[in-house]
Amino acid sequence: MSGKRVLSGIQPSGKLHIGNLVGALQNWVKLQDEYECYYFIADWHALTSQYADTSQLKEYVKDVLINCLAAGLDPEKATIFAQSRVIEHAELHVLLSMITPLSWLERVPTYKEKQTEVKDIDLHTYGFLGYPLLQSADILIYRANYVPVGVDQMPHLEITREIARRFNNFYGEVFPEPEGLLTQFPKVAGTDGRKMSKTYDNCIFLSDTPKEAEQKIRTMMTDPARIKRTDKGDPELSPVFQLHKIFSTKEEQDEVAEGCRTAGIGCLDCKKILIKNIFAVLEPIWERRDHFLNKPDTLEDILASGSKKAGAVAIDTMVQVRKAIRLNSLK
Ligand code: TRP
Repeated sequence: MSGKRVLSGIQPSGKLHIGNLVGALQNWVKLQDEYECYYFIADWHALTSQYADTSQLKEYVKDVLINCLAAGLDPEKATIFAQSRVIEHAELHVLLSMITPLSWLERVPTYKEKQTEVKDIDLHTYGFLGYPLLQSADILIYRANYVPVGVDQMPHLEITREIARRFNNFYGEVFPEPEGLLTQFPKVAGTDGRKMSKTYDNCIFLSDTPKEAEQKIRTMMTDPARIKRTDKGDPELSPVFQLHKIFSTKEEQDEVAEGCRTAGIGCLDCKKILIKNIFAVLEPIWERRDHFLNKPDTLEDILASGSKKAGAVAIDTMVQVRKAIRLNSLK
């Protein structure tokens, strides 16, 4: 253990897929042996966009928690909790909002991007503009040193560092400046070749049955040039090959790439190798999912005790924060 703190969060805005697994969860699992880790379900962040319909929220929170455990997070090693159960995040958010220039939030690229991308939800809300600042509060309240995320989150980390500096300048050193730990696979190809995302309906979910997962891979897009078995292809144009790069050995990657270029193997043979390798990763996860699926009490206990542990750290930071701002006792 290095004594450094790691913090990361995941939004319960849908069922988790293999992109979340290789892009985040597997990384989190590795880090739990090396650092003091805090991982949380960012349910307030999910509300910044899905505020109008919360009918699925509980299911998604449960799905994220089960997947975290199924992927190998160990509540004995890492602190796993829900953002909304550590209300000090909200207190820090409101205090940080006092020192955050509006322009810093307006220039965060995800702000305008998502507003343009998402058509069916009105994202011209106070909460949505404050999304990155809430994330800053999440990170700073644990005085985290490292934040494992995808590149898409780097602007949020940058603003977090800027806020930490501004706070420390005004009120004295309270917060260390956190660093991002970039994940190796920020983007995972979906079954149609676009980035795997619930918005595109191209996901292999961790909650899919083996049958569903196999069917999705079997019918995945490949290089469109390979119409007949004898047509030669370019592996780089096939999303199947993109997944091989994540799940298959170097030898298998070379073999299928060569087979694709020379029409030496058919697309289904190539997919069968991928199915074997993805199943090797998913089978233990499916087993552990089954184990937790019908244990609501265990899940509730894990979340409750994790949130209590996280809360103790958050409370401690807030004592320092209030004191620094002079919001503490009059005596
Ligand atoms: N914005 C992150 C995402 O969409 C989720 C998140 C919320 C987060 N708070 C965080 C990640 C704090 C890291 C640290 O992936």
